[in-house]
Amino acid sequence: MIKKLIFYIDFKYISIIILFIKYERRSNYDFRWDCIISEVLSSLAYIFYQEKNYQNAINYSINAVLSYSKIGGISGMVEAKKLLPLIHLELIMIMQNTVLKAKGITRYYNDKKNKKIFHAIEDISFSVHEGEVVSFVGPNGAGKTTLLKSISNYLVPTSGSIKIMDIDLLKDPKKARRKLGVVFGGDRGFYNNASAKDNLEFFARLLYVKEKDIKINVLNALKTVNLDNVANKAVGTFSKGMLQRLHIARGLVNNPKILMLDEPTVGLDIESVLSIRHLVKELTKKGCGIILTSHNMEDIETLADTIFLIGSGRIHYQGSLEGVKKFAQVDANSTLTQAYLAVSDELKRK
Ligand SMILES: Nc1ncnc2c1ncn2[C@@H]1O[C@H](COP(=O)(O)OP(=O)(O)OP(=O)(O)O)[C@@H](O)[C@H]1O
Ligand SMILES: [Mg+2]
Repeated sequence: MIKKLIFYIDFKYISIIILFIKYERRSNYDFRWDCIISEVLSSLAYIFYQEKNYQNAINYSINAVLSYSKIGGISGMVEAKKLLPLIHLELIMIMQNTVLKAKGITRYYNDKKNKKIFHAIEDISFSVHEGEVVSFVGPNGAGKTTLLKSISNYLVPTSGSIKIMDIDLLKDPKKARRKLGVVFGGDRGFYNNASAKDNLEFFARLLYVKEKDIKINVLNALKTVNLDNVANKAVGTFSKGMLQRLHIARGLVNNPKILMLDEPTVGLDIESVLSIRHLVKELTKKGCGIILTSHNMEDIETLADTIFLIGSGRIHYQGSLEGVKKFAQVDANSTLTQAYLAVSDELKRK
């Protein structure tokens, strides 16, 4: 730490000298100390920032700004302003407990048949906080799955940025994937002849779960979805509901901070639907952020904290359940289905 501090102060030596020269005429001994203290504080803030110790970075940058403000005048202000980038996205994210921040996500597909570029999603920005359920609701083809794939490293977005906690998904996907659970569901995706446990252990390794944690993580994930009693059974013998729960367990093997669920209740009987809703609620209690898409409006009504109405790849509305009803200009006692139907034409691709 001291070595680094000396390096930073060395690096900033010239600016200290400039400050000294600039204020020499009206300075006194105490005033020079203010300059040095400010420099040391801001250097420490930069070091902590680079080490991703954001709490200390905030503390030192605030103290440095206060110290610079004592110097006063233009130079002090300029130095103080240099610290502002420190109070950066990551710091705000930590203060708000943001687990995912997506900015300007756009994804085009090449429509080879018509020799055109097809805009599947355009300029979508949103955040997910700890314990929050964010839902995307929209017609078939609106872009929900494309969005989830684009923010989970399954597809590279045409443009935009994604932060998972303080990690840039596009720059450091391997590290970001460790914090991320993704569930696309369906009948495929597992080795049918292998047991549920063996399948999950395989996927845990793909997600870079540490070898010493694999067994316990897999067992916990199976317990969470109530499949621990069939852990050694071949996946090929599983019913649709069991398979869907196994998909969710696969999304949980790395203890993710954010879980993406694309239509998790599709095709399930009512008991399985209720058990998945219960599971989502339990995960949010543990602080997991959830992104959920569903055509089942009851899933959304019972689970979502924030609803995004998505149509033609764009966000048309973002807010609470009550907000959606107001937006759709339906009675406050109406259901989400009624509200959705009032705006569904607007959301369809023309
Ligand atoms: N690989 C692809 N190549 C070309 N077009 C694609 C591809 N994948 C999706 N699309 C198109 O992008 C649009 C968005 O599709 P997406 O699957 O994201 O919609 P969705 O909202 O998930 O729909 P659904 O509710 O039916 O699941 C659709 O018009 C679809 O045809
Ligand atoms: Mg979809």
